[in-house]
Amino acid sequence: MSVPTILLQARQIEARVVQIAKDIDKHYDGEEFVLLVVLKGAVVFAADLMRQIRTPFQLEFAQSRSYGNSTSPEHTPSILVPELEKVSDKHVLVVDDILDTGATYLALKDELLEREALSVRGCFLLDKPARRDPLFKPDFFGFQIQDIFVVGYGLDHAERFRNLPHIAQLPDTPE
Ligand code: IMP
Ligand code: MG
Repeated sequence: MSVPTILLQARQIEARVVQIAKDIDKHYDGEEFVLLVVLKGAVVFAADLMRQIRTPFQLEFAQSRSYGNSTSPEHTPSILVPELEKVSDKHVLVVDDILDTGATYLALKDELLEREALSVRGCFLLDKPARRDPLFKPDFFGFQIQDIFVVGYGLDHAERFRNLPHIAQLPDTPE
């Protein structure tokens, strides 16, 4: 496999993450929230983002799996959500690597509202709007990208490339 082409440099990401954290602080305005990291892809982004946030938050994790070893999602993402007492009566900010079709986020949001979350917002490093309703927009995001498969900064293809410090495009999109 040849080397992925760089799309977003580490420095560009770093600068944008600072801005997103400011927007989040402004939105919550000092009110505590739950920062819910969607494993595994959001780990790198969330680690950088949370260190720029000044509002107090409780850190929790959810696990989703939609791609397996391919580059196109299975239809229903499987999601593991924290138990009720961790999110009920709390504002929840879901942090994920990328918003693509939105299926993962919407399923997670439903589960959180069922567990009586006060509010649910979504924050994504990348926004790939091509394959979803144009009216469905992320609350917070870093960069909009075309309908291409990207890796790095936490995002993987078949568990590879998560450690790249930048976002890159795979040369050929294998199915
Ligand atoms: P959605 O449910 O279609 O919005 O997809 C969300 C999940 O699919 C993300 O959290 C990623 O794990 C994965 N995903 C979507 N696009 C890409 C990509 O280009 N590279 C790596 N993972 C992706
Ligand atoms: Mg993911």
